[in-house]
Amino acid sequence: MSKNIIALSCAGILFLFSGCQWADVCDHNTTTTSSSTVEEIFVDLELRSLIDAHNLTGDPSTGIDIPSINSPKAQLGMQLFYSKALGVEKDSACVSCHHPALAGGDALSLSIGVEALDPDLLGVGRIHDPSAPHYNNGYALVPRNAPTTFNVALWKRALAWDGRIENVLDGNKVGIRTPDTPFGIIDENAGANLAAAQVRFPVFSDVEMKGFDYNASATRDDVRQHLQERLSDPSANDYIDNEWQKFFTPVYGENSVTFDNIADAIGEYENSQLFIDNPWKKYVEGNITALSASAKRGAKLFFNSYQDGGFSCVTCHSGDFFTDESYHVMAVPQVGLGKDENEEDFGRYRETGDMKYAFRTPNLMNVALTGPWGHDGAYTTLEAMVRHMINPDKSVIEYDFSQLDANVKTTNTLANTAKALAQLQANRAFGISPHQPQEATDEEVNDLVEFLKSLTDPCITDKECIGQWIPANGHGPDCLQLNAVDANGNLL
Ligand code: HEC
Ligand code: HEC
Repeated sequence: MSKNIIALSCAGILFLFSGCQWADVCDHNTTTTSSSTVEEIFVDLELRSLIDAHNLTGDPSTGIDIPSINSPKAQLGMQLFYSKALGVEKDSACVSCHHPALAGGDALSLSIGVEALDPDLLGVGRIHDPSAPHYNNGYALVPRNAPTTFNVALWKRALAWDGRIENVLDGNKVGIRTPDTPFGIIDENAGANLAAAQVRFPVFSDVEMKGFDYNASATRDDVRQHLQERLSDPSANDYIDNEWQKFFTPVYGENSVTFDNIADAIGEYENSQLFIDNPWKKYVEGNITALSASAKRGAKLFFNSYQDGGFSCVTCHSGDFFTDESYHVMAVPQVGLGKDENEEDFGRYRETGDMKYAFRTPNLMNVALTGPWGHDGAYTTLEAMVRHMINPDKSVIEYDFSQLDANVKTTNTLANTAKALAQLQANRAFGISPHQPQEATDEEVNDLVEFLKSLTDPCITDKECIGQWIPANGHGPDCLQLNAVDANGNLL
């Protein structure tokens, strides 16, 4: 790996980086003789020029309105997010796969929604009930990894691995397209923002929340109506005793328990989950001691182009949110049941009919905590995921199946992944993919992982801080609050 050290005189440094913390670099330069420190100073300088070149501010939330978790609407949304009343069989809630103590995901490669042996047990140890009708050898029925709900307000273009909930320009109108409308066409019922629009779909997924027993000919709107009546209409046959209206009234007024308002409130709760206050942000803002030497070397590798001796990760993981919000084929091994024939997952192609196996570039905020990684959780260590990003061609051949839980089906993995890799290689040959496979030393991989760890907001692992997004252990407004426990029975 060629070193790309910027040779600048101290006078030049002061000129370029006024502001005391960066000027401190020069003070150190003149007062120290330790060669490692001098090297570190050059790393800081090089990083500063990379930060400037990529127009980074450290803050991906600039210009975006983030609701407070303490607002009545976000509090209402939190109660709903944790209620199993939104699962038709009352055994699955949004939080089943998106728990704040699990960094907004479920810590599983592939999610288990309905028919869990213990619906309230989240994370490792959550299994499909062996006596349930759809047990299917215990294989996770959900075909994709649950992305975190954290920082969902920061996505500007689209939600989901295939971006099927997305902002579109339809004629001269901007709006949200969802699976309820054809590609490119605004869904007038989508609600106020992407997060609210998304809420309309898991409730209809039989494997995520609905279950299999509900009227097979029911439409999405039938299920939404059913859930609305369950919470609001005492004359409905599935009504459950509850006090939801009491919580809705201050936010939406009388008689306001509608599915649209349920979606709106849950969206508000998710949008309040801003976790961006990480060491990297502090570093970009000028605190040069916020990162370890290893993390700094990792950052250089991340931001430098191939020509400059880096791994060019920033080509796709760009901007302060570390994503171009675009779709790329990266040939992450295809495990699980997939969404298409022969357990394949065509990704974005399912929406556009163009280019199989492309998935949305994930953002990398808190990525050290959001594993397993990839669209199907094929990698269960961050190191293995990073090695794949450096050299998918090699990583696919060396893929370690033993990292997966027994509940992840892998029968067609080799054949399906070979197809995705062939697509990646064809994309490179046609100049469509910016990715070029690289060789990396163990130290370089380690440095990249250290850099990624610097994107973790310490609030997430601080019980008191993260506790603001978890309702107090209790019944909730309908006696169906999911009070999550781990495999040892401890409350999350
Ligand atoms: C059984 C697990 C499960 C349940 C229950 C579930 N989700 Fe998800 N969620 C997923 C998976 C898997 C995906 C990825 C779907 C895809 O990309 O095709 C996802 C995607 C999302 C996303 C998009 C995140 C992103 O980065 O684009 C949001 C937001 C979300 N879910 C919120 C919710 C809400 C709100 C509920 C309740 C109404 C819910 N989820 C219920 C598993 C689940
Ligand atoms: C050509 C675009 C591109 C480049 C270059 C790229 N990535 Fe990615 N990255 C993606 C896409 C797309 C995914 C999701 C792939 C999938 O799951 O199928 C991804 C996934 C990831 C994930 C998993 C995130 C999660 O939440 O599951 C990590 C970590 C990651 N990339 C880090 C890196 C690093 C480090 C580099 C540089 C060594 C890099 N990426 C280079 C596009 C890219």
